[in-house]
Order: sequence, then C-alpha cells, then structure tokens
Amino acid sequence: MRAVLCKSYGMPSDLVLEDVPSPEPGQGEVLVTVKAAGVNFPDVLMIQNKYQHRPPLPFSPGYEIAGIIKALGPGVSGLQVGDAGVAMLRYGAFAEEAVVLSERFWRIPSDVDFVAAGAFPLAYGTSYHALKDRGRLQPGETLMVLGAAGGVGLAAVQLGKLMGAAVIACASSDEKLALCKQHGADMLINYRTQNLRETVKALTQERGVDVVLDPVGGEYAEPAVRSIAWFGRYLVVGFTSGEIPRMPMNLPLLKGCALVGVAWDTYSRRNPEGGRQNISEMIAWIRNGKLKPIVTAQYPLAETARALEDVMQRRVQGKVVIVP
Ligand SMILES: NC(=O)c1ccc[n+]([C@@H]2O[C@H](COP(=O)([O-])OP(=O)(O)OC[C@H]3O[C@@H](n4cnc5c(N)ncnc54)[C@H](OP(=O)(O)O)[C@@H]3O)[C@@H](O)[C@H]2O)c1
Repeated sequence: MRAVLCKSYGMPSDLVLEDVPSPEPGQGEVLVTVKAAGVNFPDVLMIQNKYQHRPPLPFSPGYEIAGIIKALGPGVSGLQVGDAGVAMLRYGAFAEEAVVLSERFWRIPSDVDFVAAGAFPLAYGTSYHALKDRGRLQPGETLMVLGAAGGVGLAAVQLGKLMGAAVIACASSDEKLALCKQHGADMLINYRTQNLRETVKALTQERGVDVVLDPVGGEYAEPAVRSIAWFGRYLVVGFTSGEIPRMPMNLPLLKGCALVGVAWDTYSRRNPEGGRQNISEMIAWIRNGKLKPIVTAQYPLAETARALEDVMQRRVQGKVVIVP
C-alpha cells in the first residue's frame, strides 16, 4: 500500500510517498482501508517534532480517518470486517491503510459521506467537547470563537449555533468571516483591522461574552479574557499563532471567570464512554442534517504536502481532506 512518510523532521516538502507493506493489526486493533483522512494543525506540528506526542521515525502523519475495516486483530469484539467508521489515531492516517485501536474506532452508518466523516472526529470532537463538557455552553449565551474559519473554529461556530448560543466569529480576513457568516455566525470581528475588546463591548452592549473558544493564543488571548462577562469560561484549545499567552491572574478573579483547558484526545482516551457519547451525538446530527462538516478542499495522497502547506500558510478554511 502507499503511505506518506515523514522520514526526518522538517517541512511538508520533506515528506515522501512510498510503497510500504500493509500494517498488521495487533492485539485489540483493526486494519482500516482509509477512505478519507482529515488534515489538522497538529499534523504540521508533528512533522516538525513540535507536538506533545512524538512518534518514532519514520511515520505517516495524519490524525483522523473515515474508512472500512479490512481485518481484525486478536481480541477484538463488537466490530466486523466491512464495518464503516471514523477513528482518531494521532498519526498514520495519510496512507491507503491504517491500524487503529478498536476502542478508538467509532462505527458510522455506511451511507454517511466518507469525506465529511473523515473531517470530523478531531476538529468537531474538540469543539463539541470544549463547548459541552468544559464550557458548559447554555442556550441563549454568547460564544466568541477565535480563528473561527479554521477547522476547530468553524466547527465551534456550527456547534455553538446548534447548542442555541449567539456566536461572534473572529478571524483575520473578511473572506474568512464571510464563510463563518454563511455557516451561522451572528456577529463578525476582523481582529486584524478591528480592536477586539472595543468591538466586543459594542456588540454586547458592554456585557461581554459568556464563553470564548481560543485555538489561536498569542496577542488575542488577553483582550479575549478581558471581553468575558461575569462567570464566563475561557476555553484554552491551542496556539496556532505560535505564542503561548501569559495572563494577569487578577482577570479571572475580577470576572469570577474560569480559564479552562481542553484536551479532547486525552479526554476520549481517559473517558471512552464520554468520547463515544459525544461522537454518537454528532453522528446523529450529521444524519438528520443538523450538522455538516465543512470540507473546502480534497487532495489525493500525492498532494498531502500541499494540503499541509496550506495549513501552515494560514490559507485553509474549514477542513481539508486527503482522499487516498
Ligand atoms: N486541545 C485539543 O484538544 C485540540 C484538538 C485539536 C486541535 N487543537 C489545536 O487547535 C488549533 C487549531 O487547529 P485546526 O486544525 O483547526 O487549525 P486550522 O484549521 O489551521 O485553523 C487555525 C486558525 O488559526 C489562525 N491562525 C492564527 N495565526 C496563525 C498562524 N501563524 N498559522 C496558522 N494559523 C493561524 C487562522 O485563522 P486566522 O487567519 O483567521 O487568524 C486559522 O484559521 C491548533 O492549535 C491545534 O493544535 C487542539
């Protein structure tokens, strides 16, 4: 089978596409024919050896897949060859076949669109876990999303609306904001051209927002915390800006607000039932048409480097998917 390989840490252009033997599913694992693999910011961190999880070289990057079970390893129960599903595997997805822990393979109906399905376990899983389990977002509350046109960000815009919140989308260009508006954002802030804090004050009649979801960090984090209402929640999701922000600790005290960490992959490993529940709820929404993962580009395996370049250059909108 063909696989994209990271043989030495570096840039997307250093990745190679090679023929490699099919992986063997071990104890408790399944071998999956990959139909679609979502591209995520952590992939570009991993190939540069900048991610918290460091796979041994050589490895195939790619965190999430949708596909069909081709073979079962020993000790697997409750799954069968031919089952369709989605999975999070951290790495190994940008290949024609991948081995996955059976408890991290979540079955999906076989009539679900594989491309949309391959785009959702990590980004939509992260935003849903953040808003539901960590932010406890309530109907009628106001949610502000930074990096709102990215994978995690646009998922948060869509899920925030589904959960009954008013959503303020923040992004770096009017084109990105137009995409957020198209997918439900009620209010828009271009944080490159508008003052974040002053604009939030104007949009919320000085009240501030109840929940902030921040996958960006850097210079926007402090004005975002200063824009939180009494008893608000600030969800720490990631640092695409490259800068881990520092925060004056009087701010949470003054606002009675909470700074809350979000770690979806770890949560779903430590609490498999909670993870499965969230995935099932989102699959039900996808099936009844309430939620549609937004895929704006598809690439073949041979163009994986191009997809990862787009992520690094801040060009991606919604999700990009590799279709082997
Ligand atoms: N905590 C968790 O459980 C978890 C799980 C998955 C992912 N994450 C993290 O969530 C973040 C978002 O991931 P993603 O896959 O959604 O990424 P993405 O699709 O590339 O979106 C990231 C957004 O960040 C903004 N950004 C600001 N500065 C940037 C820069 N220098 N380079 C690239 N983007 C920049 C961009 O929006 P603007 O141009 O509009 O600013 C972009 O749309 C990452 O930090 C990732 O590691 C966390």
